[in-house]
Amino acid sequence: MKQRIREEILGLRGEIPSSQKSEHSHSIFQKLIGLDFFKTSQNIMAYVAFRNEVDTLPVIRHCLSESKRIIVPMTVPKTRELLLSELKDPERDLRPGTFGVPEPAPEFIRPFPAQDLDLILVPGVAFDEQGFRIGYGAGYYDRFFDRLTRKIPSIGLAFELQIIDRVPAEPTDQPVDFIITENRLIDCR
Ligand SMILES: Nc1ncnc2c1ncn2[C@@H]1O[C@H](COP(=O)(O)OP(=O)(O)OP(=O)(O)O)[C@@H](O)[C@H]1O
Ligand SMILES: [Mg+2]
Repeated sequence: MKQRIREEILGLRGEIPSSQKSEHSHSIFQKLIGLDFFKTSQNIMAYVAFRNEVDTLPVIRHCLSESKRIIVPMTVPKTRELLLSELKDPERDLRPGTFGVPEPAPEFIRPFPAQDLDLILVPGVAFDEQGFRIGYGAGYYDRFFDRLTRKIPSIGLAFELQIIDRVPAEPTDQPVDFIITENRLIDCR
C-alpha cells in the first residue's frame, strides 16, 4: 500500500514544472521563516533537497546569514541511521552521497549532537493531516525520531499534491508536528 502511494505521488511530484516548484518552494520558505518558533530556533536540522523535493537552499542560506546553525543529515546505509553534521557553506561542503543525496564531503563533516537541535525540517513523499509520513521506505527518519532523548519540534515540507487523506501508518511511523505546503500551515498536534 505504502509502495503504491509512493510511486503515485513521486510520479505526480515529478510532473510539477520546475518554475512552479521554485515558486512553491519560495512560498513554503516564507511561511516557515514567519513562524515564531522558527525565529527563536537557533540550531535547525534541514535536509538538502534532491530530485523534486521542496527546495531547502533558500532556508539554509537565510539561516546562515542570520547566524543560525544548519545541521544536515548523513545516511548510514548499513545501520539505516542518520548522523548529523553542521553545514557552513552549501556551495563548498556538499557532494552526492548515498542515493545521490547531497551530503557533506568527508573533509567537511562536523558532528553535531541531536539533543542540541531546536527544530527539524523533514522531507517526505506523502503526508496526511495527522502528520503521518511516507518517505522513501528505509525508515531513516522513523529511527532518528525514535532515538531522540527529548522531544524536538518537527515540520514536514511538502507540495500540496503530496498531502493525502490517510497514510497507512505502521507502529514505527513517527508523525511530524506541522506541515507547510505552498497553500497552508497544517498543525498536526
Ligand atoms: N525505530 C525503528 N526501529 C527499527 N526499525 C524501524 C524503525 N522505524 C522504522 N523501521 C523499519 O524501517 C522500515 C521502513 O519503514 P517505512 O516504510 O516507514 O519507511 P519510510 O518512513 O517511508 O522511510 P524514510 O524515513 O527513510 O524516508 C520498516 O520495515 C520499518 O519497520
Ligand atoms: Mg515510516
